[in-house]
Amino acid sequence: MPRKIAAGNWKMNGTLEALSEAAGIAAAADDVETVLCPPATLIAPLASAAQGTPLRIGGQSCHPTAAGAHTGDISAEMLVDAGAAYVITGHSERRTDHGETDADVRAQTEAAWRAGLVAILCIGETLAEREAGETLAVLNTQLDGSLPDGATAANTVIAYEPVWAIGTGKVATPAQVAEVHDALRARLGPEMSLLYGGSVKAGNAAEIFALENVDGGLVGGASLKAADFVPIVAALAAS
Ligand code: 13P
Repeated sequence: MPRKIAAGNWKMNGTLEALSEAAGIAAAADDVETVLCPPATLIAPLASAAQGTPLRIGGQSCHPTAAGAHTGDISAEMLVDAGAAYVITGHSERRTDHGETDADVRAQTEAAWRAGLVAILCIGETLAEREAGETLAVLNTQLDGSLPDGATAANTVIAYEPVWAIGTGKVATPAQVAEVHDALRARLGPEMSLLYGGSVKAGNAAEIFALENVDGGLVGGASLKAADFVPIVAALAAS
């Protein structure tokens, strides 16, 4: 059985004040693997606050190399040093904002494994690609280019995040999610955790998590406050 995972991606949000939200989330993290990926400045304090709780911490990206002259970047080894156990790779905002390619994402995912992190590798189609009927082809091309050989359920989680559903309030329909997740399951095997991301909220989480091949969520906006994220974690635990 794939592991159920509720992951929160805080993106570029949160200061030290947000540690109280994390404490509320940690208190509810018992039943399913719960991960928060805060901005880099909060990884160490959050990891230290989460010690002794089941809450796990993740980075939002990593550089392919372990150290060197790369101003502004953070390596997978540094994330481990700060207390992270996971890292997101290939988020569409990184692909758009920083021009990251599938080859970059592959190198980052390999770096995550090298350091002992679990990679949460994101894939997703744009609205134009979906409307052109290219969704599954686009996702397969992204996986061909970005998922390294040697991916296992222990070192990799896949997050399907349709770009048009991220931060827009437009959640993919259960039928749209099921079509993609069934195809991912057929390609990636029975054990790998497959997360859905894109406008997941307390009000729609149960319906999405009820789908056979959805093992959890990668949640943006609704992971910032314990009052919003805890019901999502509970919906996953009950699914
Ligand atoms: P929202 O949940 O805010 O739509 O963001 C989804 C996402 O990009 C998580 O990585």
